[in-house]
Order: sequence, then C-alpha cells, then structure tokens
Amino acid sequence: MVHIKNKAEIEKMRAAGKLAAELLQFIEPFVKPGVSTLELNDLCHEYTIKRGAVSAPLNYKGFPKSICTSVNDVVCHGIPKASDFLKDGDIINIDVTPILNGYHGDTSKTFLVGKVKPEIKKLVVDTEKAMWIGIEQVKPGNRVNDISNAIDEFLTANGYGIVRDLMGHGIGKKFHEDPQIPHFKQTRLLTKLEEGMTFTIEPMVNLGAYNVVVSKSDKWTVRTKDGKWSAQFEHTVLVTNKGYEILTLPS
Ligand code: MF3
Ligand code: CO
Ligand code: CO
Repeated sequence: MVHIKNKAEIEKMRAAGKLAAELLQFIEPFVKPGVSTLELNDLCHEYTIKRGAVSAPLNYKGFPKSICTSVNDVVCHGIPKASDFLKDGDIINIDVTPILNGYHGDTSKTFLVGKVKPEIKKLVVDTEKAMWIGIEQVKPGNRVNDISNAIDEFLTANGYGIVRDLMGHGIGKKFHEDPQIPHFKQTRLLTKLEEGMTFTIEPMVNLGAYNVVVSKSDKWTVRTKDGKWSAQFEHTVLVTNKGYEILTLPS
C-alpha cells in the first residue's frame, strides 16, 4: 500500500531531505586519498547528531554503521572500516539517510577520488544522468514503469548492466515502503504516480553485467559478480501537482 503524505508530513520530509543533502555536501571535502571509510562514517555520524537527527542505517536490520560506503566494485551497502583507505583512482558511493523528527531523507552520490580513468568517469557521469532521466518522468498520471523504462532505455543503449536486485523505494516514517522503483525495463504497468507520494530513484549501474553477489562474511556488502566497477546516485523526490520536487537538495 502506497502512503500519500499530507502537508505536515511533506514539511517534515523536506526538512529531513535538506539535512541529508547537506550531510553529503559536508562530507565531500573529506573524500580524498588516504581517508578511511570509517573516518567518513564517524564524521557523518557526528554531523547528523549535532543537527538533532539520527542515522537510519545504524542498526537497521543489523547494519553496523551510520552510512554506506561502496568503493569500486561494491554496488551498495558497503560497511565503513578502519582499515579501508581510499586511494587515487577509486570511486566511492556515499549513501546517507538521516531521520529528522521521525522522517527519512535518503540520498547518495558517487565521488571520484583523485585521478580516475576516463571509462570510469563516464560510468559515473552516465549514472547521474540516468537518475535525472528517471526523475524527469515523475508527474501525476505517469506510472512507476515510465521511470524504469526511461532509465533502462538510456543505460542499455550505452551498454551498461543495470542492477535488478535492489531498487528505489517509497520513503517517509519508514526507511523503505511501497512502491518499489525498478531501474530496468518493465513489461507490466506499475503503480500510477499521485501527488503526495515520496520515493527514491537510485540507479545502480555496472560497467559489466547486471549480476551482483552479497558478501557471505558480512551479509551486507553487495558486489558485482564479474568484479567490474559500479556507480550509483540517489535522490528522494515528492510527486507534486505538476511534476516533482527533489527533497534531497541542500539550501
Ligand atoms: N540508503 C540505502 C537505500 O538507498 C539503504 C541502506 S540500508 C543499510 O535504500 F542498512 F545498509 F543501511
Ligand atoms: Co534508498
Ligand atoms: Co540510500
């Protein structure tokens, strides 16, 4: 069941989304060769608390840290670690979700660390473009599959593998709620978009095949099966009467 947000809830979603965006903006200058993913986690955690919010990932279904840090062939849900240092040429997706006054704001971005190979840079640029192509489909009367199909059309034409096992999601008081937002081609009609819906669009895009594997040791880290690198961008959006509002923009 899709929960339509009322005015008061939308105000809280705006505040949580803005905080999430500002958190990503805050961490950006620290994303440099030599920093550990745990340092990035701790900086984000402290910033979140100081702003009167809570880190949703921490203890979510047993997730052990406050943000997800997904480096190179890690697709998503990478766990920050004191022994994992960024190095020149890496890419890292940082995914943050603060809860402010009971509501979630979920956003992520893939950062380039130092000098990154052109092919990898293109993956990152195209992944962000795919997210925006999906967002452009958000308006009342369109359907979830319009988002999915627009993203797929662009990425498939460019030869990428689109992750299928993880999708965008409704969001509000709950971290993950209906509807699911697939980023790959749909052959059926999915949920019709209505004013007041809030959900994420967060394509995970692989340089190789779409297949992924979950770490057997930590049960969280999702990697590409073929070891090729993967990028992701994410925004939380609101369906408005005319189209959309991005909730995860900084002020
Ligand atoms: N932020 C992720 C998403 O976009 C979810 C992370 S769940 C966690 O849906 F437990 F790994 F934090
Ligand atoms: Co999300
Ligand atoms: Co996220």
